[in-house]
Amino acid sequence: MDRIKIVGGNTLSGTIPISGAKNAALPLMIASLLTDDRLTLKNVPNLADVNLLARILRNHGVDLAVDGKRAGPKAYLGETFHLTARDIVDTSAPYEMVSRMRASFWVLGPLLARMHRARVSLPGGCAIGTRPVDMHLVGLKALGAQLDIDGGYVLAKAPKGLIGNRITFPKVSVGATHNVLMAAALAKGETLIENAAREPEIGDVAECLTKMGVEIEGIGTSTLRIQGKPRLEGAVHSVLPDRIETGTFAFAVAAAGGDVLLEGARPEHLQAALDALSHTGATVETVAGGVRVARTGVDIGPVTVETQPFPGFPTDLQAQIMALVTRASGTSIIRETIFENRFMHVQELARLGADIQLHGDTATITGVPELRGAPVMATDLRASVSLVIAGLMAEGETVINRVYHLDRGFERLEEKLSSCGADVTRVTER
Ligand code: UD1
Repeated sequence: MDRIKIVGGNTLSGTIPISGAKNAALPLMIASLLTDDRLTLKNVPNLADVNLLARILRNHGVDLAVDGKRAGPKAYLGETFHLTARDIVDTSAPYEMVSRMRASFWVLGPLLARMHRARVSLPGGCAIGTRPVDMHLVGLKALGAQLDIDGGYVLAKAPKGLIGNRITFPKVSVGATHNVLMAAALAKGETLIENAAREPEIGDVAECLTKMGVEIEGIGTSTLRIQGKPRLEGAVHSVLPDRIETGTFAFAVAAAGGDVLLEGARPEHLQAALDALSHTGATVETVAGGVRVARTGVDIGPVTVETQPFPGFPTDLQAQIMALVTRASGTSIIRETIFENRFMHVQELARLGADIQLHGDTATITGVPELRGAPVMATDLRASVSLVIAGLMAEGETVINRVYHLDRGFERLEEKLSSCGADVTRVTER
């Protein structure tokens, strides 16, 4: 199993190209189930989760071709996927696959809309809380689906197809919004989704659906009005840049010190996180081609942060900012309001010398003058990258075990960091 070894203390300088967003690429790939035509996706990141979803979609009968690798300096342009769901041969998504990646549950809405039936495993528990799917099911029921749960599977049918309706979500859910939005694209008539998630990845999927022929009003707002179509066309769409990867590298630069251009980053997609970063004393500047982050010669200041749905501070950057402020000159307060139990990184950061007290959903971090390298364990995707950030600041060597968590969501992480001067290497054991 691979490990990542970091020798802390180096500052970072140079350019880091931002990859396509995992959280947009996944639902965009799933949207291919809505048409018998070809959906071409550009700027798809090469990640374990993307590859797993490709397997799941192939199992449904989706034909997937990936453009050949390009030679030369543009290695970070992302891959181009051509997905064609001409014949959906299997409307069942098995437990072995869905349990490995929650987002694969989102095939339910599109399969139901196109094939009028689907059998999709419930995703089951997850390391960062219970994460139910009740709102997905309520939303699809409102569109006329008949749903049964049997043997851990959702058995869904809509013999006459889905019919548009008004759905008001009781709380903001990214996944439920994706699932119902994609289902509504092929439903008869108009669907109104109120209290929809406003994350930029939802907007990206909505833009792609628009290219496929769906009429959608309110993209980027919490009210989506969707006019479903009986048949969707193919389209060509480029995956938007990953705001979580952007934020992660921004916090890494602030942690290690230095000056880095995050190439292709879209600051408007992570303004709350960049504002918090400015509060810590880092310089954040929007420049042609991306965002420049620098911290030179100033201490890290403490922050008070609460995670919120977009446009608030993203839960997917909570662990990273916590790693940064372990070295702040003062006390920071970080409250997690989206997921219960999303503090698994705290124990590991403590192994490096961080001083963090947990009370319910709130962490109090008292900055320490130094961290010291140690062996640590990656527990989930975002938690593991917070250990990389801490490792960059720590004295001596930090070894991160179970890096497959990192490979799920970060493309060439060690390459991108070492090209800016970090001492980060992957140790592969056979
Ligand atoms: C997505 C993101 C994940 C991010 C999260 C919140 C992808 C692939 N994953 O996950 O990286 O951390 O949004 O921004 O895009 N909930 C319910 N009932 C439901 C659905 C959700 O109670 O039916 C709850 C969840 O338990 C959680 C909250 O709603 O407490 C938000 O979850 P949701 O936005 O659905 O997260 P995901 O779509 O799973």
